[in-house]
This record gives sequence, structure tokens and C-alpha cells, in this order.
Amino acid sequence: MTTKVTPNPLRDDEVWPAPPAAIASFHRRMPAYSPTLLLDAPEVAEDLGVGRLLVKAETRRMGLPSFKILGASWATYQAICAHIGTEPEPWGNINELAANLSYLKPFKLATATDGNHGRAVSFMARLLGFDAHIFVPAGMASARIQAMENEGAVVTIVDGDYDDAVASSALEASETCLVISDTSWPGYETIPAQVIEGYTTIFTEIDEAIDSSGLDHPDLVVVPMGVGAFMAAAITHYRSGGRSPIVAGVEPLDANCVQASALAGDLAHVPGPHRSIMVGLNCGMPSLIAWPRLRSGVDWLVAVDDDAARAAMRDLANSAVVAGETGAASLAGLRALLGNEAASAKIPDMSDKTALVIVTEGATDPAAYEDVVGRPHDSIGRVLTAMR
Ligand SMILES: Cc1ncc(COP(=O)(O)O)c(C=O)c1O
Repeated sequence: MTTKVTPNPLRDDEVWPAPPAAIASFHRRMPAYSPTLLLDAPEVAEDLGVGRLLVKAETRRMGLPSFKILGASWATYQAICAHIGTEPEPWGNINELAANLSYLKPFKLATATDGNHGRAVSFMARLLGFDAHIFVPAGMASARIQAMENEGAVVTIVDGDYDDAVASSALEASETCLVISDTSWPGYETIPAQVIEGYTTIFTEIDEAIDSSGLDHPDLVVVPMGVGAFMAAAITHYRSGGRSPIVAGVEPLDANCVQASALAGDLAHVPGPHRSIMVGLNCGMPSLIAWPRLRSGVDWLVAVDDDAARAAMRDLANSAVVAGETGAASLAGLRALLGNEAASAKIPDMSDKTALVIVTEGATDPAAYEDVVGRPHDSIGRVLTAMR
């Protein structure tokens, strides 16, 4: 397996403001909200030589197979509030919110996606009774497109890569259409910043689960990076003046735009085609608003190949966690980091310490999952209860 592991030469001690407390209470009003599982994976921990490996499994979040709804829901709500100039209160659940907003219809949400964010925006649009128009790069797996269409979205396949899909979606903005993008560009920064805020709920949940179980908080946290919005949420949480673990970000080798930017000293574009099976990470350019947090707060930048992701999917399946290709990237990155001589000389001995990996998606392409793992995703970690 080929990997590229580098320390972040731009790392500094900047402290970032903690996210607004209103986010957690907003998410609690979303349908089927509950904290996702934080699991202990002792076999993988032993294999890696770490004292404890915690896995935050974002494989089922509000009924969707990735974490993305946390950002899409909060940013959509904030964008609507800005659009109508007030909070559409009172509402206690999503049906009441939809009723309060029904006067806006016909109304649309648009975005670009490599799968999960678009599905989350489509889901949000359906809950609110709005239309959704999603722009996707050429070559996206039909299961991912179908999942968005099943939410009622119109999906447009753009002749180009993710960055081309982003450009097409930006043209949709109008009085009756809000663009809810998870990446940013000059002049479009507020909504992606709210997407980042929404993701921070994951880290709040992790702290709460660890506090209530009495386990140690992680010494090393590994997070996958596409445009870096999710990592920006991790940095917001872990560099806001409290606990400050080592943070490593993982990318595919041919879409390592955060690593390339850090090494170049400023935002850099990694041209496509980006063909990794870790499709959620196939991005050529970090998000403009994520970048200041990435450059300042990430300690290690790790690029891995697809074989590393496949191996991590199988390891996680053996620990009863269904991780899709992108979801498994963090474990692949942890293994690459600990296996890198230069890095392990600088990282404290992990044999009595805790590492945390965020598994950001489940089997978003079930056929591809079965090809890699050798078993269908719904046979992994199945719980059988005897009936008498
Ligand atoms: C499952 C999954 N994990 C991680 C990421 C990376 O998030 P970001 O693009 O914010 O870095 C994505 C992005 O689409 C994703 O779908």
C-alpha cells in the first residue's frame, strides 16, 4: 500500500470560538435524532498497538447512512431564517416547521455533491415539502443517485468533476432557491460555515459518551477530509481552549488537496480526475472557510490509497461496524500514520493511549460494499434475538 504522511508545517496555537449552543437543541428537534454509537474496537486496537480504539459510527444518522444531515439540516434552517428575516418559531417538530414555512412554496434547495451531502439536502427538502435539485459529477454510482431521487430530488449529472458540479449548483441561487453547499467560494461563505457548525454535534456527543462511561478522552483523533468542512468542525471542537488531542486528517492519494495546500503554504488545487473509491473525499480544493482552521489546527496529514480503504472496511466489518469506502478512510489513515517511521517517532507511544476514528458513512453503495468485504452490509453485526 502506498501512503504519504506529513506533519502540517503551518500548525499554530490559534484558539477557535466554540460553536453556538443552539445547534444541539436544534438537532434534538429533528426527526429520529439520537446520538450515534461510540464503540470500542479492542481487536483492531491490539493489532494497531494502541491501548484503546474508539469508533464513532456515523453509519445511521437520522435514518441516513452518513453524518452529513447534521450540517445540511442546521445550514438549511439558518439559510431559511436569513431568507425570511426571522426564526419560523414556534415549532417543536419538523412537521410544525414545515407548516410554518409552507407559504414559501414552490421553493427549492440546491447543492452539488459526491453523494452524502446531496442526499442530506434532498432529505431536508422532502421533510420541509420543498423541491431539491442536486448536481453530481459524471461517473457517480447509480445507487447514490437513486438514493437522492428516492428523496424526490431532481439529479443533474454534470459533465466534469465535483468542482464542476459545485460551479453548476451555484448558478441555481434565486429568490425561490437556496443553495446549501458544504464547500465555500469567494462571496459564498455563510452557509458552508453553518454546515461546519452543524457537524460539531458529533464531537459534543463523543465527549458526552466518554464522560458518562468514565473512559479516557482520546489522545489521537483521525478524521477524513474532502473539502475539509468536517475537519474544520473537529478543529473548532478540539482547538477551542479545552482538551487538545493530536489531530490527523486523511485524504486519497490523488485528491490530497489539504496536504498539498499545507505543503505549498497556501490553498492549492490538485487537478483531477479524482478516481478514488473514497468518493466523499474526491475533492481538488479545500473549502475557503475551512482552510484557516485546517492550516492552523491539524497536526498530521495522511494520504492513503484505495487498498488501504478496502482493508479498513474489512477490519471494521470484523468489529461489527459497517463502514463504506469513505467511512473507512479514518481507520486506514490511523494505520498509515502509526506505520510511518517518521511520524511514530514524533507521536507519543500509543500502547496505553486512546485513539478515536470517525467512521463517517455506512454502506452507501451496497453492491460495492459486498464486493470489498465479501458479505452483504446487512449481515454485519447482525443481532439475533431468540423468540420463545
Ligand atoms: C462520508 C463522508 N465522509 C467525509 C467527507 C468529507 O467531508 P468534507 O468534504 O467536509 O471534508 C464526506 C464528504 O462528502 C463524506 O461524504
